[in-house]
This record gives sequence, structure tokens and C-alpha cells, in this order.
Amino acid sequence: MFLEYCGGGKELMVDNHERILHLENLTIAFGGLLAVNDFSLTIYRGDLVGLIGPNGAGKTTVFNLVSGQYIPTRGKVWFDGREITGLSPDRITALGIARTFQNIRLFGDLSALENVLVSFHVRTSYSFLSPMFCFPRSRKEERRIREEAYSLLEAVGLGNFAREKASSLPYGQQRRLEIARALATHPRLLLLDEPAAGMNPQETRELMEFIQRIRRDFELTIFLIEHDMKVVMGICERVAVMDFGIKIAEGTPSEIRNNPRVIEAYLGAEAQ
Ligand SMILES: Nc1ncnc2c1ncn2[C@@H]1O[C@H](COP(=O)(O)OP(=O)(O)O)[C@@H](O)[C@H]1O
Ligand SMILES: [Mg+2]
Repeated sequence: MFLEYCGGGKELMVDNHERILHLENLTIAFGGLLAVNDFSLTIYRGDLVGLIGPNGAGKTTVFNLVSGQYIPTRGKVWFDGREITGLSPDRITALGIARTFQNIRLFGDLSALENVLVSFHVRTSYSFLSPMFCFPRSRKEERRIREEAYSLLEAVGLGNFAREKASSLPYGQQRRLEIARALATHPRLLLLDEPAAGMNPQETRELMEFIQRIRRDFELTIFLIEHDMKVVMGICERVAVMDFGIKIAEGTPSEIRNNPRVIEAYLGAEAQ
């Protein structure tokens, strides 16, 4: 069914490799500005794909279109064989897509554990805030959720920080906590928007290893935005490059590194 919509010579060569996300001619305009213009991309299950480009290229807007924050002016989003264009962000999360944000979005006054617990309400029939809304939740269910939240904190290396206030954690740990929150919704596809922003080279290296580990341990497909071209080159199998809303290149890291159009886009941005 999928192939009917997005078939083509190139895709048919790799059809034993199952597609999980397919973006078809995505376009969105803000006022007169085409923030994303005719953007198409296919991501296969288990891949780690990078999306790079200068500031303002349209990368975050692509994520907002995939996760349902924005509805495209034109084009379609397919996830796991079904069209999800226009569905609400909650619905899309429930279907198996989770994301983190370029600017960390945590509940600063809540503990690390509470931050993860809040995320569970998206996919459980009982709300974490149930006392407020008078929805009963069984003790058994509550205990199971707390145990899972703890194990997620352990998985991201924050097992000893469960009771710390989120805002008191160092920056790198806040980024990991955001990822733990995303994992709490049991995604199959994880979108990470500049997870290394603000980190020093050592923290960045550790984060990249961590991303590869969670991909394996949680059987994820990962779509990763990064501003710094060098950062993604070590871990992504494929990289797409955007400039002024348009996909200007796609390929393996070495193809991208040597692509004159990509080099020009980055040099142009540096000259600004
Ligand atoms: N909600 C919005 N309203 C108006 N302009 C927007 C909105 N979201 C993004 N843009 C514009 O779209 C362009 C692409 O932004 P963005 O996707 O955030 O770029 P990137 O993540 O690549 O740095 C920018 O010019 C930005 O100002
Ligand atoms: Mg951005």
C-alpha cells in the first residue's frame, strides 16, 4: 500500500527494508515565508538519520510538521504505513512518535521522577493527575508506572537523581531527562531536536554514544536535528541537508561532507 503512494525506482531497490516515516512534498508558509518547501524524505525502521542545515533552514519546522504541532499547507506525513497528516500531537504521540525540543521543556519545580511520570498519562487510560480530576487509578497500576519511570531514569543514567528538582540538574542531565520523558510514551520513532546544543565536546561525544545505545536498547528509529555538521557525521547512517526550507542534499555522511552545495550553504551561513 505504501509503495503505491511513494514508489519509485530507488525505493523499490530497498523494499526489504521497512519504511517507518515518509514525508511527501511537505510545504508550509508563514506569511510570505516558505519555511519548508516541497520537502520529501523516507526513513527506514532502525535507522539513525540526521537533519542538518544552517540556522533558520526549516529543520525544527519539519519536526513540528511530523509531530502534529503544525499542519502542512501541502504534502503528507506517513507513519508506519498510515497517513497521519493533520492528526493532533497527542494522537501522534500515542501512535508512537515522541520528540524532544530545541529549548528544553521540563517542569522545573517537579522532581526528575515526577517529570517522567507526567509523560505516562499520554498512553495510559488513567491520568497521572488523577486526584485532581477524580479519576480512580488502581494502586497496582500506579506502582507499575513508578517502577517503569525509575527504570527509564536508570536507562538514561539518572537513577540517582530521581528526587532532584529538574531545574537543579546540570544542563546535560536535563537533556537526558527530556529523552527519558519521551521514552515514557513508548515511541518507535524518536525525534531529537539539537540534543547537543549547549554541550561541550566531551558531553557531546557522550551524548552521541548514549543516543546509539538507546536506539539499540529501545529498538528505536531516530531522526536527529543538529546544527553542527561534524556532530552527526560520526553516528548517522544517512543525513539530509536543508537550506532555506529546501532539501539540498541527502546521502551518507561522506557524500554529504564532500557535497559542494552543502559546503556552500554552510560557508554562506558563516559569512552572514
Ligand atoms: N510559527 C512560526 N511563525 C512564523 N515563522 C516561523 C514559525 N516557525 C518557524 N518560522 C520561521 O521559519 C523559518 C525556519 O525556522 P526553523 O524551522 O525553526 O529553523 P531551524 O530549526 O532550521 O533553525 C525561520 O525563518 C523561522 O523564523
Ligand atoms: Mg531549530
